[in-house]
Formats: sequence, structure tokens, C-alpha cells
Amino acid sequence: MNAHSAPTPATAGKSGPLRGQIRAPGDKSVSHRALIFGLLSCGTTEIGGLLEGADVLATARACAALGAKVDRLGEGHWRVQGVGVGALLNPTETLDFGNSGTGARLMMGVVAGHPVTARFDGDASLRKRPMKRVLDPLALVGARVLEGAEGGRLPLVLEGAREPLPVTFETPVPSAQVKSAVLLAGLAAPGETTVIEREATRDHTEAMLAYFGADVRVVPEGAHGRRITLVGRPELTPAKVMVPSDPSSAAFPLVAALLVKGSKLAIDGVMANPLRNGLVVTLREMGARIETLDERREGGEAVEDLVVQFSELTGVDVPAERAPSMIDEYPILAVAAAYARGVTRMRGLSELKVKESDRLAAVADMLRAAGVTFAIEGDDLIVEGRGPGSVPGGGTVTTHMDHRIAMSGLVLGLAAEAGMTVDDVAFIATSFPDFVPMMRRLGAEIA
Ligand code: S3P
Repeated sequence: MNAHSAPTPATAGKSGPLRGQIRAPGDKSVSHRALIFGLLSCGTTEIGGLLEGADVLATARACAALGAKVDRLGEGHWRVQGVGVGALLNPTETLDFGNSGTGARLMMGVVAGHPVTARFDGDASLRKRPMKRVLDPLALVGARVLEGAEGGRLPLVLEGAREPLPVTFETPVPSAQVKSAVLLAGLAAPGETTVIEREATRDHTEAMLAYFGADVRVVPEGAHGRRITLVGRPELTPAKVMVPSDPSSAAFPLVAALLVKGSKLAIDGVMANPLRNGLVVTLREMGARIETLDERREGGEAVEDLVVQFSELTGVDVPAERAPSMIDEYPILAVAAAYARGVTRMRGLSELKVKESDRLAAVADMLRAAGVTFAIEGDDLIVEGRGPGSVPGGGTVTTHMDHRIAMSGLVLGLAAEAGMTVDDVAFIATSFPDFVPMMRRLGAEIA
């Protein structure tokens, strides 16, 4: 799955009803954080349900390079023996995060608060992504970029602060990664570190800080924002983390069931954190038949079992304020919009341009290849729905090393008149290694 390996194409053909009961893999955001908090606590952290995708495995290797003992005990069952805040080792090897912006940016925050020097690198996709958004606040903490980072890009060498400073920082973009990097650096600083965000983003770092025993306060800020204050230098207590299943991964079989006629799918244990569930809210507004069967808490997060059935969808207007709660779900929402009746307008998508690919451009190319009419106006994407089962298809989706574009392209093909080809499905392994076999078991025609 690097620049040198041959691409793996796949074709999704018009499929009969999708039926069955599944559980999506462990949440990617929580999985990265569970490993990192394991590294930063003194003693043994046990993790169940860890996502064993390439992105998270890269973070596990980085934790080991920084001094933790990381062991896989069984499927999704991992043990991290951490070193504690302030006691990281100097890594002797490059920290290679592969395709993962989350792993790289969160670990930059960890390194920034410690007197260690680390080289960060990643694949061709990650090397294109902006790092200045984390490097700027981490410079205020006292970290320095020693080499590289031309235009704020990987590869780079980051020297952490000998005496990290507590900062108050307002994130310039709604980004949980930037917020988390600053809070993780703040763990090693004396006094209070504060992050202000104008729009609330996923709160897994704050939740895990509290769960591992740090003193963290979260208060509302403005109409949609939050102010998070962390008291530095806590002694983090190792904990047991059960990773709930990833709503951003469940999104793909979920939308597939909505689009393929006659489908009925049970999806168990999906994380229902309100800062992550914008897609389900939007799909329900579009008329999706998504039933919640059991709401409960697992591993400190709200989870729910969902039953999803084929539905005739109608286009809607998705407000920009909802973007942070479904930022990774726009490619698959665009697929749903293509099969809806009427127009769907998705507002405020500027952050989509700096994901694993420029997702706004990649989604536009995907829709074009499927024969769907759309427009981009500023940061808005407007899709003209063709109605249930009425997308011509027949084209090829270019994934640009982006797992979510690959999965969206396959789902698009399952209900299209002439199916769809995806040029490279290898990157699906970053977040959902079992996606293609699971979809086949449900009845999807993917060759
Ligand atoms: C993530 C935050 C989001 C999201 C990414 C995971 C996280 O990125 O797109 O897949 O785990 O913090 P941004 O912080 O760049 O919005």
C-alpha cells in the first residue's frame, strides 16, 4: 500500500438486497487515542475492540518507538505498558504514520511537550497535508521544527520543548486534531492549557483525559463552540478502554442498505456521540428508515444498535454548522444524495480539501464518472439527485489514496445501472480492512 505497490482495482455491480447483521470495526479516533493515553500513563492500559487498520497500527509502532511496550494479545485486544507524562524516550527510528493525519498530528502534540526529537513522515497523501495548523500552536508551547516542513509539510524533524509552556489557543479551523495536539502538549506543561474552538469538534481527547484521571473542564463558548481547560502534569492512571464501533465506517454499509432495493441491515454497537452523528441526522431528514433499537453506554461513549432499510430519499439542505459532526461522511452523503429525489446542498465544506485527498474534487470526479449532475459554489456542493436506482454509473472512480473515496465509489456502484469501478481499493485497509469481504457476505456484488 505504498507508492510502489500495484493498485488493486475493484468493480461494484448492481446488487440484489443486502441483508444481515454486522458490527463495524473499532472507532479510528478512539483507537489512536487509547494507544497514546496508554503511552502517557505509568503502568498497563488494556484495550478491547481496537481498530487494527493500517493507520492505528502506525500509531502503535510510534508509541513503541517513544518507549511504551505495546503487545497484541488477541483480535482487537492490546496491552500498552506506558512510561508516563514526561518520561518519553528519544525515538531512534522515523515515526512513519503512513496515511494517517490523526496519528501524525496527535503525536506531534505528544512530542512537543517532551525533551525528545523525532522525525515524522508519511505516505505521498500525508506528505501533501497541512501540518502548520498544529506546528504553529506547538511552537507557542516551545517545540521547534529542526528540519523540513517546507510549506508546513512532512517529512520534518520536531524537537520538543525542554520546558513546555501552558498556552491559551483558539483553533483557526474546526479541527479535533489541532485541539488534541495542543491538549496533549499541555499535559506536560505546568499550569493550565486552554483550547477554544468556535465550533465544537469530536471530544474523544477530552473524554479520555478525564477517564485517565486528568483535571479537564469543558464549558460552552459562543453559539456552537467550547472552551477546554486542562491542568498540566497530572499523573495519568492506566485504564481499560473498550473501543466502540466507528460511525464513520458504519456509514458505508448503512448508506448501501438505504440505496439497494429490498435491503435490511442490522448494525450493532455504533457510537452515537452527538459530535459524530451528523450523517444519521441528515439521512433521517432525507427520509431514511433508520431505527434505533437499543441506546446504551459502552466504554464511556453512547452507542446504539441500528436497523436500516431501503428508503426513497429526498434532497435536503445541510447546514454548515453540522459539518464538524460529519466531516468524514460527505463523500458517502454525496452518494446518497445522487440517489435522492431533488437537490441536496451541502454547505461549508472547505475542510474537505485537506483530508486524505482533496475530497471535494474527488467527490466531484466520482459523481461525474457516474453520470450525476452537480455544482460546486464556493465551499458548497450541490447534487442533483436522480432518484432511487437511477444513477447511470459505468465509470471509474479515482481514489487518490483515500479510503473513504474508495468505499464511497463501491457503494455508489452497488445501486447504479452499470455499476462502478474503483481504481485502487488497497487504502480501505487504513480504516476498514474487512469492508469488501463484509459487503460481499451481505450480498454486495464486488469483484
Ligand atoms: C479526527 C479528526 C478529523 C477527522 C479525522 C479524525 C480525529 O480531522 O477528519 O478523520 O480523530 O481527531 P480534523 O481534525 O482535521 O477535522
